[in-house]
Amino acid sequence: MSTIQTITSSTQDQNNWINHQLGDLNEINRYFSINKGNLLNRYLSVVIEKIQRIIHLFRTGFWINSHSLGQALNAYRFEVTKGEFERIETLVKIKLGSDFTEKAYQSATEETMMESFQNSVEFFVGFIRSPTTVGSLLPSSQKLAKGIAKDIPETESEDTPKRYYLEVGPGTGTFTKQLIKKLRENDQLDLVEYDEKFVKILQRRFGHLNNVNIIKGDFTKFDPQNKYDYCISGLPLAAFPKDMVVKVYEVFNKVVKKEGALVYFEYMGLPRLKETFLKGKKYENFKEILKIKKKYYDDHQGKRKNIWLNMTPAYICNVTL
Ligand SMILES: C[S@@+](CC[C@H](N)C(=O)[O-])C[C@H]1O[C@@H](n2cnc3c(N)ncnc32)[C@H](O)[C@@H]1O
Repeated sequence: MSTIQTITSSTQDQNNWINHQLGDLNEINRYFSINKGNLLNRYLSVVIEKIQRIIHLFRTGFWINSHSLGQALNAYRFEVTKGEFERIETLVKIKLGSDFTEKAYQSATEETMMESFQNSVEFFVGFIRSPTTVGSLLPSSQKLAKGIAKDIPETESEDTPKRYYLEVGPGTGTFTKQLIKKLRENDQLDLVEYDEKFVKILQRRFGHLNNVNIIKGDFTKFDPQNKYDYCISGLPLAAFPKDMVVKVYEVFNKVVKKEGALVYFEYMGLPRLKETFLKGKKYENFKEILKIKKKYYDDHQGKRKNIWLNMTPAYICNVTL
């Protein structure tokens, strides 16, 4: 996706960019065998489609399928004006059909095996670049993500009031993928992520969802219009400086509704291990952070459960505000 940086504001160049990734948009249907006809015709169209995709891959380096179609459209959505994006989306819908385009968007939320690997590499590189921001070597496991989502009660009916969800530090979207399953049409999920690279990944995966807002920024400066029923945090508090931890708790208190819930995770044993390596002022500072965290958990009747299948095993903590 490095071509994103080369976009200029001229429509011609923008079309070149999207054409580069999706093939000739005017003939995009030749990459997708949405074909009727007898068995032989269908078989032939599948073969032709594959050949067209291989040619496109050799020419541009981009493999076209419904997943990459959804992700490329989502990425483009954040690069151009609303009007220009709608023009391109309408063209794709005319060529491939609205249902097919919708399926492409749904598929964009999934991580392919290759993307899961690339996202893990992105995480690892992010950690090396800024260990105190990224806070872990790898994205969380599916098991942890499902455990986090399970901690949020189901909505009984479509008629109950709109729910506001906030995810802080979503990274590459491991928890987000589970959280969007909870959303009803008029619920809202806001994602606040600091790292620009992760923001781009979130845009590609979830950019088409009308009730998901992707906000690039520092949570300690977050000042939303509304308050949240549920806040899910992936922030690596144990890696932050003490003042920042205090600020994060202040913002949690400000943005989560009274009786709302804050769900987060902590790595088992790691704080104790870290303690043994720290000395002097750093040791004192870290002890203070652990104390602040424990006090917050106790003051808010915290509950926790273990998740063993994670790198490294973790607790899911749930506190009521
Ligand atoms: C431990 S990772 C968790 C990522 C993801 N939730 C997961 O479990 O795979 C921490 C995430 O918090 C983000 N982050 C760190 N400091 C932040 C801040 N001040 N505001 C918003 N996001 C922040 C990092 O960029 C990273 O994506």
